[in-house]
Amino acid sequence: MELLTTRQALDQWVEDAYRAGHRVGFVPTMGALHAGHISLFQTARQGCDRVIGSIFVNPTQFGPNEDFQRYPRTLEQDQSLLEQAGCHALFLPAVVDIYPEGHQTRVQVGALAEDLCGRCRPGHFQGVATVVAILFNLVRPRVAYFGLKDYQQFLVIRRMVDDLAMPLKVVGLPTVREADGLAMSSRNRYLDEHARAQAAALFRALKRAQELYAAGEEDPAALEATARAVLTTAGITRIDYVAARDPETLAPMVQCKKNPVILIAAWVGSARLIDNRQLIRN
Ligand code: PAF
Repeated sequence: MELLTTRQALDQWVEDAYRAGHRVGFVPTMGALHAGHISLFQTARQGCDRVIGSIFVNPTQFGPNEDFQRYPRTLEQDQSLLEQAGCHALFLPAVVDIYPEGHQTRVQVGALAEDLCGRCRPGHFQGVATVVAILFNLVRPRVAYFGLKDYQQFLVIRRMVDDLAMPLKVVGLPTVREADGLAMSSRNRYLDEHARAQAAALFRALKRAQELYAAGEEDPAALEATARAVLTTAGITRIDYVAARDPETLAPMVQCKKNPVILIAAWVGSARLIDNRQLIRN
């Protein structure tokens, strides 16, 4: 795997790939890689001739009191996981490669980015959309891969790509889970033993909502209340949101006729965890 630490090196790699007629697949990450990320790289390998990843802990998507400083940085381990996954190149930009002196343009996605995590983390999606747009412009991939655990992020990025006519396809891939259902996340590293045991309640809450929906419940408030009760029973009380929403627009629904997505953000110990599930009728 080639390590690309400057824009110039990246540009050369991208030029070579296109000159050779390769289809380039891209997986942007913030590192601290886990099996969820690796599944994105594996899928990219299947669909593309050349796969490139990036690791950049993007300062503009963290609020002033969030975990930017603390965010796990595990470069050596990440590199060896990516080698094993067959990744061809890894872009490791410095902050000035992404935000050179004088940088002042931001990408602001509309309604999709306003509620849920957008409301709890002001500026977060503007930071995400901006860095992803810059990375897309630098890497110029044909396809980019994202995990559906970050469901709102996925919709925001897909909207941005459509709205700004960016010439690439955005692919969302299913959440990879631990044996007890906990969604893989770099932030799971913050969980101590007690919090780790509690964290599995997020998955159980989504599962309970699914059972209720499959049994005929269509009232979003009832679905949300059931999921919320699973969390509080497990001792999770700092809940940012439990919301049953339209799966395309994330708008609230009066009645869940169209399969809703139920989304959760909650604090477990010192970690803010998110998870979601699209509810289906069997
Ligand atoms: O999901 C992430 O890891 C980040 O939000 C992303 C998409 C790499 C942008 O920094």
